[in-house]
Amino acid sequence: MALAPVLSCPTVPLSNGLQIPMFGLGTSHDGGYSHDAIVYALTECGVRHIDTAKHYGCEERLGKAIRESGLARSDLWLTNKLWPEDYGYKAAKKACLDSCSRMGVECFDLYLMHWPESLKPGRSNRETRAETWRALEELYKEGVCRAIGVSNFMVHHLEQLKEDCSQMPHINQVEYHPFQQPNHLMEYCRQEGIVFEGYSPLAKGQVLSDPTVLRIAEKHRRTPAQICIRWSIQNGVVTIPKSIKRKRIQENCQVFGFQLEEGDMAALGRLHDGRHLAEAIRESGVPRSNLRLTNKLWPLDYGYETAKAAFRESCSRMKVEYLDLYMLHWPASMQPGRSNRELRAESWRALEELYEEGLCRSIGVSNFMIHHLEQLKQDCTVVPHVNQVEYHPFQQPNELIEYCRREGITFQGYCPLAKGQALSNPTIFQVAQKYGRTPAQICIRWSVQNGAITIPKSTKRERVVENCQVFGFQLEEEDMVAINKLHEGRHVSWDPTDVE
Ligand SMILES: NC(=O)c1ccc[n+]([C@@H]2O[C@H](COP(=O)([O-])OP(=O)(O)OC[C@H]3O[C@@H](n4cnc5c(N)ncnc54)[C@H](OP(=O)(O)O)[C@@H]3O)[C@@H](O)[C@H]2O)c1
Repeated sequence: MALAPVLSCPTVPLSNGLQIPMFGLGTSHDGGYSHDAIVYALTECGVRHIDTAKHYGCEERLGKAIRESGLARSDLWLTNKLWPEDYGYKAAKKACLDSCSRMGVECFDLYLMHWPESLKPGRSNRETRAETWRALEELYKEGVCRAIGVSNFMVHHLEQLKEDCSQMPHINQVEYHPFQQPNHLMEYCRQEGIVFEGYSPLAKGQVLSDPTVLRIAEKHRRTPAQICIRWSIQNGVVTIPKSIKRKRIQENCQVFGFQLEEGDMAALGRLHDGRHLAEAIRESGVPRSNLRLTNKLWPLDYGYETAKAAFRESCSRMKVEYLDLYMLHWPASMQPGRSNRELRAESWRALEELYEEGLCRSIGVSNFMIHHLEQLKQDCTVVPHVNQVEYHPFQQPNELIEYCRREGITFQGYCPLAKGQALSNPTIFQVAQKYGRTPAQICIRWSVQNGAITIPKSTKRERVVENCQVFGFQLEEEDMVAINKLHEGRHVSWDPTDVE
């Protein structure tokens, strides 16, 4: 049999002397799993590093693909991860051995704690992390894991682990791409001898249409994906793009025959634009406790387990331990075969538990009409704390607002500027002139003065400032009435009225 090719890929030494290949293949569940793609990557592209996790749900299939490749186990770097539901000393050890047996291997080259929060009621996250880490330290000593590490750990998590345990992680695997460059954390890892590994190097595809990336790709006659992967590797980061397509896997591997120039590296470095809310919040220096953070669960994640997993992922991406408000985004579940009502109730039960565990300080719904709220009342125990609904001068769901008031549900209004449509309305304009304010300020003031929590959006500094300045004045009764009269039932967003 002809020898399988080996990708000529540099390695990085871990603090224990092991060498991890800088390029690996991701296998997360987003976009599915392909047996053929894994076998192809191993046998045709020479990939020798695979990144997986129990949470991705493909361990058995991956084990089969590795055996089918004919590669010796010792020729392959295999990373796996421990999911928080298995945190704790005994559970962690068992989970690791179970993962080994599902994959049909005796050891992992690297085993990571997937996520810093333990989600175990009654114990602090720090305590559970330390206990779990002690299990990993033992698995390391026993040779079941040749190296151990963490994932999504921030500096304070690593600092705590340093105080609580004896062995520092060999690796920290964290999101890393041109839009997300946690430079402070990378520097900390470097100082502590922890190898930095970056996941989602293509920002799940989002970075591939960025004009700077496109320009550099054209200049080097490479694809945008190759530029991003090359940039990450050239920054010394272990990089694990995922694809289930042969052609793309081949493409993603071909990142070693060229070099990005200093100017290219700098241009890509500048793409870190704080688009990540987590980074913006961290940079602002505002303490977490001074901030109210709302996030929403998208219907494709409805269901008990999926809702909880999606919540954890959102917290991970936002780098927070809890949310102040978490909502069901939309009343339709968008999942065939199950009724909306059933899935809403099941997802709501997950939110109720997150609330009871203190991981959501409050829970709510969005775009729910009276009939959705009535059903939820019959099916569940906790009444939503908030209902977030489209609300602006052209769309005033007064019956719903009154229902929410009676039921003790706080009303929150979105699209207060009607996506800009309200700003050119003559009535709004007149009122704005009368008060020497802008039309946007009048719309926001009207909403706030009607008692609605109001959340205008802008990406422009001066508009953000303008939109905040709505508390130094009061609209007179006649102006409130004039704006109330603009109601015409116009939706600028979705209309959930007919959702069952
Ligand atoms: N530790 C953690 O918490 C964590 C979190 C996220 C990810 N990870 C790991 O990191 C791996 C990579 O991250 P990721 O999967 O989130 O995102 P990613 O690698 O940045 O992007 C994957 C997406 O890009 C597409 N893609 C791949 N190559 C492409 C190309 N050459 N041109 C155009 N599109 C391309 C893929 O679609 P196709 O498959 O259809 O080609 C897929 O939708 C994961 O699979 C997982 O192993 C770890």
